[in-house]
Amino acid sequence: MLTLGKVKQTLGAVALVAGAMMAQQASADTLRVCTDPDNLPFSKMDGAEKGVYVELAEKVASRMGSTVEYVWWLSYNQRKALRNTIMQDSCDAYFSLPADADYRVRGVNKTPGFLNVSYAIVAAKGQTFKSLEDLKNKRVAVLHSSPPHILLASREGFTTTSFIAQEAVFAALNKGEVDVALLWGPSAGYENMKDEQSRWQVIPVKGEGLGGAVAVAVPKSKPELQARIEKALQESGSDIQALTQKYGFPTSAPIELAFKKTATPVHTAHAASQKSGFTKVAATNKDTEWVLAQADVPDAAAGKMFFNNTCSHCHGTNGASPVSERDIRKLKTRYKENWKETALTTIRNGRPDLGMPTWKGVIKDQDILNIVAFFETIQK
Ligand code: HEC
Repeated sequence: MLTLGKVKQTLGAVALVAGAMMAQQASADTLRVCTDPDNLPFSKMDGAEKGVYVELAEKVASRMGSTVEYVWWLSYNQRKALRNTIMQDSCDAYFSLPADADYRVRGVNKTPGFLNVSYAIVAAKGQTFKSLEDLKNKRVAVLHSSPPHILLASREGFTTTSFIAQEAVFAALNKGEVDVALLWGPSAGYENMKDEQSRWQVIPVKGEGLGGAVAVAVPKSKPELQARIEKALQESGSDIQALTQKYGFPTSAPIELAFKKTATPVHTAHAASQKSGFTKVAATNKDTEWVLAQADVPDAAAGKMFFNNTCSHCHGTNGASPVSERDIRKLKTRYKENWKETALTTIRNGRPDLGMPTWKGVIKDQDILNIVAFFETIQK
């Protein structure tokens, strides 16, 4: 999960203050749960659908004879979310973290994994997939910079088209512009169920960096509480199954994609497409850029022309605005190694309250990628 706009960060901070104040008043039989306020199908602060984690937290708490108090914090930057919640002891249970033993957080223990989540193949019903070979000679849609994008782009024989939003992938599938997609399974399954009348099959995959179990994190200082949570989780097996069905998670047996390692994977935060769970992306920006260049060939010259036609009345010709926060040449200075993701997210989502329009669905994803390639050429 990459660094996103300050708007979202502010929301997180406000939510925490409210949560922490409530938490102080919490009594002993209250389970303080930290989770994301806006991450369906996993969790959601308001609305009719609460998500798998929130509904599960309720079940777990009730099995423990407790009630739930929520501390909401956006998790697109997971390390930051952890630092501001469970690592400060403002919650008893953080839903959720990779169960993987390599994923360690100071001061925090984890329960055993309670649910497997992974990427998934989205394809027309009736097609069968047994291995990676079955994706060859197909046009495969992926989300920009996602692990499947990076992994497929670095191998021979695959044709990928990258998108910035999952909705755009489903639109391309519906129009027959791509044959299959490799998307984050829970999100794809949920959208398939909600918006696509379950017309696609969503088949989970296995392989390095493509998925794994998630666990509940508990402060190290509370081993007894952890034991109670673990017991309640164990007793909640059938609830977990029912919840994953309710939210459309793919449940069939996973297909082994047996990717070879291309780079030492690291755990990093990932973009909005990928808010929960965990993602491994190429270890360095250098690898990522090489891979992206192979996959998309973003066209900086086309991006420059597009920018000067569409964006320059607010940002100046070639992005050289005299207004500092509109000066596109300062992105790298401002956001360091996260500048590209920040640019992508800002263009896509806009900052409506600050005068930057939302471009998602207004201009093509490829144009956004071209624009960012142009931005690369003008950084100071
Ligand atoms: C109506 C005016 C307007 C238009 C048109 C516009 N922007 Fe913006 N944009 C803004 C403003 C204002 C900000 C600064 C928001 C802030 O204060 O954070 C901004 C911020 C940005 C940023 C983040 C800059 C930073 O350093 O944080 C990027 C990237 C960006 N715009 C790209 C684009 C692109 C690409 C287009 C065209 C597709 C575009 N903008 C069109 C007004 C506009």
